[in-house]
Amino acid sequence: MVANKSFLDAVKDRRSIYQLNKEAPKSDKEIVEIVNQIVQHVPSSFNSQSTRVVVLLNEEHEKFWELAKEVLKPQVPEDQYKSGTEPKLNGFKAAYGSILFFEDPQPVEDLRKAFPLYAHHFGDWSEHTSAMHQFAAWTALEAEGFGANLQHYNPIVDQKIQNEWNVPQEWKLRAQLVFGGRAGEAGEKQFKPLEERVFVHGAKN
Ligand SMILES: Cc1cc2nc3c(=O)[nH]c(=O)nc-3n(C[C@H](O)[C@H](O)[C@H](O)COP(=O)(O)O)c2cc1C
Repeated sequence: MVANKSFLDAVKDRRSIYQLNKEAPKSDKEIVEIVNQIVQHVPSSFNSQSTRVVVLLNEEHEKFWELAKEVLKPQVPEDQYKSGTEPKLNGFKAAYGSILFFEDPQPVEDLRKAFPLYAHHFGDWSEHTSAMHQFAAWTALEAEGFGANLQHYNPIVDQKIQNEWNVPQEWKLRAQLVFGGRAGEAGEKQFKPLEERVFVHGAKN
């Protein structure tokens, strides 16, 4: 993280950056270390540690976006594919890496059995757990000088990924975080008034 950058500054600075390039501000080893720290320390419901990540760098990242193109091409009308889908996917391919976030259903199933009272919540809490990892990774990478954006090409790419990177069939792909050197700025963002979203009771000073 940039020296003295507070957590709140990192939260504020995280944005969706779509123009990304291959100029990584950190080495592959450092990227893996950031991901390791996130996966080790981000919380999970009942400490289930149900999140799994697959980190794709360099050619492997490019391969992922080529596979996404292969899957989408036959599903999208040709002119739409050429004018919209293909350039968009090439934009992701132009980045440096992708982190694929999965949830392993086994620990979630174990929790359902161990705590029947909460059984109906564990699916939601697995989604929350995944989201926490996604947010932490996104914010950490931006704090380390990358730009990133979050994508959802699941479930259409799931089968290809499982075959290509030997991912267990039962893991559920939840999101893809695309990251790379920043080649553009974030778009303008509108904010709803905080008074409509935050309600404080009992503040004394
Ligand atoms: C749960 C979640 C799902 C999102 N899914 C996508 C997505 O599939 N594709 C995409 O381009 N952006 C996606 N985004 C990015 C949001 O559109 C973006 O975060 C939001 O507009 C605020 O902009 P900012 O990220 O620049 O702060 C997602 C964000 C969140 C939190």
